[in-house]
Amino acid sequence: MAGMKRSGGSETAKRRAGERAVDAVDDGDVVGLGTGSTAAHAIRALGRRVDAGLDVSGVATSLQSRELAREAGIPLTSLDAVGSVDVAIDGTDQFDRETGALIKGGGAAHAREKVVDASADRFLVVADPSKAARGLDASVPVELLPAARRPVESAVRDLGGEPTLRAAERKDGPVVTDNGNLVLDCAFGALSNPGALATDLARVPGVVAHGLFVDLADAVLVGTEDGVETRS
Ligand code: 5RP
Repeated sequence: MAGMKRSGGSETAKRRAGERAVDAVDDGDVVGLGTGSTAAHAIRALGRRVDAGLDVSGVATSLQSRELAREAGIPLTSLDAVGSVDVAIDGTDQFDRETGALIKGGGAAHAREKVVDASADRFLVVADPSKAARGLDASVPVELLPAARRPVESAVRDLGGEPTLRAAERKDGPVVTDNGNLVLDCAFGALSNPGALATDLARVPGVVAHGLFVDLADAVLVGTEDGVETRS
């Protein structure tokens, strides 16, 4: 998908986290289907349960997760049709062990992810240990309208960040999101108050969505080589 960055965690750890999250899905649930390599394990595991007779429908957070769900045989619906989801399962680029706050958007899908994940009765984050941090300090992805690039860059600098336009990996030019927008990766250093920064970024005209997910996750399931640790 557009702008998917490579993640360094082990596939075993990601698979364990994804599979454990799918254990929480009940018959009849509407499931939010996250984006990225860890969420992909959950989508495949959910597909196996559908094969075995589980009756669920999925709401995709990206073109990538929609295609994976189709391949896995998960019936799809939309937030327009259902309004909210029972459980959302999504990955993260970094999470704060203490607060559960997240930085997402390494796959440039955070705008739709936030809509779906925030609508969920239960939002389960799936991660490998490389995503854990004491306090958040990763760059914050900001999706913006292409016409607003210069003013948004300026507003990010005013907030103490250094914006870098995300470039496409396999062709010349910038990453273009599923929504037709651009992404700025904004380096703020260690975030002393992620909630306040989230509010400030959301107020900037032209910003479609930023990758700070504060007070949204109900649990973070961290896969390891041996099992799964849950932070809730
Ligand atoms: C996409 C995301 C992903 O969930 C995040 O980048 C984690 O991906 P991965 O599981 O491949 O490390 O936020 O926008």
